[in-house]
Amino acid sequence: MPDKGGFPHYMIKEIFDQPQGLRDTVTPRISLQEGRVCLEQIHISAEDLRVVRRINIVASGTSRHAGMAGQYMLQELAHLPSDVDYASEFEFRNPLIGPGELTVVITQSGETADTTAAQREAKARGSRTIAISNVKNSTIAREADGVIYTLAGAEISIASTKAFTAQMAALFLLALYLGQERGTLNQEQVLQHLGELLELPPKLETVLKSSALCERLADQYCQAQDFLFLGRAIHYPVAMDGALKLKEVSYVHAEGYPTGETKHGPNALIDENLPIVIIATCDHNDASSMLRYKKTLANIRGFKKQSARVVAIASEDDQNIRELADHTILVPQASELLSPILEIVPLQLFAYYMAVKKGLDVDRPRNLVKSVTLE
Ligand code: F6R
Repeated sequence: MPDKGGFPHYMIKEIFDQPQGLRDTVTPRISLQEGRVCLEQIHISAEDLRVVRRINIVASGTSRHAGMAGQYMLQELAHLPSDVDYASEFEFRNPLIGPGELTVVITQSGETADTTAAQREAKARGSRTIAISNVKNSTIAREADGVIYTLAGAEISIASTKAFTAQMAALFLLALYLGQERGTLNQEQVLQHLGELLELPPKLETVLKSSALCERLADQYCQAQDFLFLGRAIHYPVAMDGALKLKEVSYVHAEGYPTGETKHGPNALIDENLPIVIIATCDHNDASSMLRYKKTLANIRGFKKQSARVVAIASEDDQNIRELADHTILVPQASELLSPILEIVPLQLFAYYMAVKKGLDVDRPRNLVKSVTLE
C-alpha cells in the first residue's frame, strides 16, 4: 500500500497527486517535434480507424462521467458521433452496434464486472474495443484491441479522483489521435491542442490552492441536506461527478443536472434550503462557450431571485459571476474541452472536507467497494 505522503487520508493525497498523474499520462504519448500523438498500444490500423463511423463509450460511475466529457472531445476533434452508456444497462438495451464501430470502455480498476461484460457484448457484435484503464494487465486491458493506460498511480481511496482527471486526459489524447489518423486535424492543430494539454498540470497546481476555501465552504454548508450541481454541455459531467463525490463520501444527497433543465421541473425545489453548485466557466475564444456562459449568468440571476445560495466555479478573470454568486471558486482559463479537468478539483475538495467535517471514514465509505466485480 503506498503511504499517504503526509496527508491524513488517501482521498486528499490523491486529489493532490493529480498534476503528476496528468503529466505521467500525457508526456509519454506525445511528440512535440513531430506534432503527433503516439498511442502504440492501439492495435488497430490507421485504415480501420479511418472507416470508423461511430463510437460507443461504456463505463460506470465516475468513469462514465469521464466518458460523457470524452463524447464532446471525440465529436469535436475526430468528428465522430458517440453515444455514452451505463455499463450496467448496455447488454439490456440490445445495442445496435457492429463492425465499423469502436467501443471505448473506461474503468479505473479494469475489473468492473458490468464494464467487462459490456466489452464482451460489444466484441460479440463485431465492434473493435479500446480500453482506458489505470491498472496494468487488468481483465479489460487484456481483452481489448487497444489500451490506453492512465498512469495516475494506484488509487486507494474508494472515491475516484485522480483516475478521473487522467481518464479525461486519455480521452483527449484518443480524440486527437483519431483526428490525426482520420485527417480531421492537421499537424498545426494537433500541436496547438497538445500545448493546451501540457499547460494543465501547472494550472491544476493553482486550483489546488483553493483547498482552504473549499474547507471553509464545507464548514458553512455541512448542515445542508441536499445539493443541486449544475453544468451545461461538457461541464454537465463535471456537475454529475461533483454530486456523486458528495453523495458517496459525505452521505449528503446531491443531484447533478443540466443547468438548462432546471426550468423543466427542479426549479420547484430551488429555495434557500437547496444550495446550488454551478459550473460557470467561460472560454472567451469560443463562441459556443460564450453563449453557454450568458445563459448560465441568466440562470444564476433566476436562482438568486428564488433565494438560493449559489456556489459558482468560474474562470479566473470573471467579474460578473463574483457579483452574482454567494461564493465563487476561480479556476485558470482553459479551452472548453479541457476545463472540466480543472473544474472538478474544487468539487472533489468540497466533498472531501464535507466528509471530514462529518467525521466519516473518507477513504472507505459505507456499502461501497473499490472494484465492483459483481454484476
Ligand atoms: C466514484 C467511484 C465509482 C467508480 C465506479 C467504476 O467515485 O469511484 O463510481 O467510478 O465503480 O469503477 P471503475 O472505474 O473501476 O470501473
